[in-house]
Amino acid sequence: MNVNNTWHKIVIGDARKMEEIESGTVHLMITSPPYFNAPFDYKGFFKDFDEFLKLMEDVAEETYRVLSKGRIACVNCDDMLVNGEKYPIVADVTKIFMRAGFKYRDKIIWLIG
Ligand SMILES: C[S@@+](CC[C@H](N)C(=O)[O-])C[C@H]1O[C@@H](n2cnc3c(N)ncnc32)[C@H](O)[C@@H]1O
Repeated sequence: MNVNNTWHKIVIGDARKMEEIESGTVHLMITSPPYFNAPFDYKGFFKDFDEFLKLMEDVAEETYRVLSKGRIACVNCDDMLVNGEKYPIVADVTKIFMRAGFKYRDKIIWLIG
């Protein structure tokens, strides 16, 4: 699809293995991963927190592969309270992306005006 002289391709697939995408060819990644076992819409989705972290690791590594050098990955996430236990998702996801090769840039907190 050609829009304003940019090329758009929609792939419905697994972000852990983006075989359709050549290494170093993507200029921006934005994702909103499943909210770890969020009581409102992801209750029991992950077996445990380690399974969630493994998904984030696999996606971070694959994202690092497809992005061009110097380009940016944005992850929409927040810490999560599940059954009275608070999970430090922002810190863990930040470290996971750093371990995959990314430099940490910033945290943006959106406020509804
Ligand atoms: C918090 S929702 C994001 C919804 C999206 N922002 C929207 O507006 O529709 C998380 C999404 O991640 C998808 N998802 C889960 N595992 C995935 C994977 N391995 N690869 C790609 N998407 C995945 C789920 O199907 C779900 O739609």
